[in-house]
Amino acid sequence: MQNFDYFNPTRIVFGQDRLAELNQLIPANARVLILYGGGSVKRFGTLDKIKAQLAERDVFEFGGIEANPEFTTLMNAVELVQREKIDFLLAVGGGSVMDGTKFVALAAEQQEAHEQILFHGFEPVPSTSAIKLGCVVTLPATGSEMNTFGVITFNQQKYPFTSPLVYPQFSLLDPDLTLTLPQEQIANGVADAFIHVIEQYLTQPQNAKVQDRFSEGLLKTLIEDGPVTYNDGQDIAARKNFMWSATSALNGLIGVGVMQDWSTHMIGHEMTAMFGIAHGRTLAIVLPSLLRERKEHKRDKLLQYAERVWDITSGSDDEKIDLAIDNTERFFNSLGIVTQLSHYGIDDEKIDTLVGNMEKMGLTHLSETGDLTLDIVRKILIAAK
Ligand code: NZQ
Ligand code: ZN
Repeated sequence: MQNFDYFNPTRIVFGQDRLAELNQLIPANARVLILYGGGSVKRFGTLDKIKAQLAERDVFEFGGIEANPEFTTLMNAVELVQREKIDFLLAVGGGSVMDGTKFVALAAEQQEAHEQILFHGFEPVPSTSAIKLGCVVTLPATGSEMNTFGVITFNQQKYPFTSPLVYPQFSLLDPDLTLTLPQEQIANGVADAFIHVIEQYLTQPQNAKVQDRFSEGLLKTLIEDGPVTYNDGQDIAARKNFMWSATSALNGLIGVGVMQDWSTHMIGHEMTAMFGIAHGRTLAIVLPSLLRERKEHKRDKLLQYAERVWDITSGSDDEKIDLAIDNTERFFNSLGIVTQLSHYGIDDEKIDTLVGNMEKMGLTHLSETGDLTLDIVRKILIAAK
């Protein structure tokens, strides 16, 4: 295990009937901007409930943050924050709204070159201040509610950024607020959370037992309660487990001191940017094919994954690994996710364009060992057709 620092200051307020606590979570004299998406929070009454809790403060609203939030949309919010001297941002929504809010928190504290925030990859943004923010989560998936990351679309490309300044002050996770989610969004969320764990776990053996066992617990929980939540809109007990798994998958804890492989995400982001396929779905297409291609490279951890996560105890090592990868793909399929590129009309020519775009973005040496080149990306995608 490598040396590490672990620090996560986000207060999690978890459970049903806790919206009334917002009043204590946000400073009494704050000028608050509530940011939300395309309207689900308005349609289902969440926004009104929140406004009622904050009635004694100066409260402003900014709606219309799209899925895969756009830089240009968010710059309108930045202008509003600067004009109205807002000093607290409240994101109400899924990953797109939370990520967009984090961007606004950083961008509103600078006067120019706002797009520069997006050009540091996984190195922290050099900003020195950000507006404080909190989140009310309506879609369990990204873990954005308890981490430092955001992903913003700029000039038709997705750019990740990270800064410790945008850790939410708090995130409120009430499973009741997710009951209006369409089934396909539950599926996207389960796939995204699952693959967040995989990208931190399925690398090389590092004798990091705590991280491994936490990861295996999260994967097993998602395998058990993801499908229950997908199939049964009323099972709150399962939904709670799914929700907390999604947050725990990307709040830093399982990734400390270990190698990480974000190849599936980097390829998936390009697929979303080019073809508009939802984030979780792109990952579910890429991952099974990537694991088959990288079977020898990841052999030891794949075997551990097969035995501990899928409880595969008989057969040769190769058979165990192959079955674990097949089970992974079938798991996504059981959530109504199609894992073939042809389903989305993506042919060889589009794959070549995608690989070309990744080259332009500098995404040429992926994986935990930096040896997943664009030739291999192409092979992975051709095999996923
Ligand atoms: O916009 P509204 O009308 O609110 O509808 C949203 C949106 O259309 C809807 N929705 C959300 N909560 C709902 C609901 N509909 C009914 N009832 C509810 N309770 O769901 C749709 C998708 O929302 P979105 O926020 O886009 O989904 P998700 O949470 O999957 O976020 C995806 C974004 O997060 C980024 C992705 O790249 C993508 O841009 N990611 C962020 C990460 C992070 N910050 O750590 C890591 C991830 O790997 C990911 O890259
Ligand atoms: Zn993701």
